[in-house]
Amino acid sequence: MNHITRRSATALISAAAVLAPFAKAGAQTQLPNGAPDVLALLEAEHKAALGLLDQIIASSDAQQRASLLRKLGDALTIHNANEENIVYPAIRDAAHKADDAAMLYHQQDDAKVVIAQLMLAPKDDASFTDGVKKLRAALADHIHQEETVDFPAVRTALGPKLAQLNTMTAQLRAHWVTNPSA
Ligand SMILES: [Fe+2]
Repeated sequence: MNHITRRSATALISAAAVLAPFAKAGAQTQLPNGAPDVLALLEAEHKAALGLLDQIIASSDAQQRASLLRKLGDALTIHNANEENIVYPAIRDAAHKADDAAMLYHQQDDAKVVIAQLMLAPKDDASFTDGVKKLRAALADHIHQEETVDFPAVRTALGPKLAQLNTMTAQLRAHWVTNPSA
């Protein structure tokens, strides 16, 4: 560990912990060259995110709900950065679906606000459960749009050039793991 500073080693460990809820999903999406297939990776992360929301809804323990919500928010940070910086521009520019891209950015911003509000809300209140259920429904619609319309459109539009998005994704995630506050 000589070449790794104590701070960056700590960042590496904490980043690995943040991505842990999504790690199993990511392990199933490796391309033969070891790079992740970005669209398959994001789709696996969608399943993990909905699973975390289901766990929050099923839990009656306020502390556990708060902890699961924090995990969801932390893990979505890199997922959202991946979509907003790499995939949505491809939906807009390569697949020529500017309206869809704008809608996805907008929906994702709305979800971030709702998650922040839920983090501040009492976790043992019926309104918290209602809020999480509404968030889950909104995210399920958003994910359905991505997975059935816009991700396939990017895959078709880019063809073999999708590998460039995979490389960019690998770079983004490697950078984020070593610079989590960047
Ligand atoms: Fe997504």
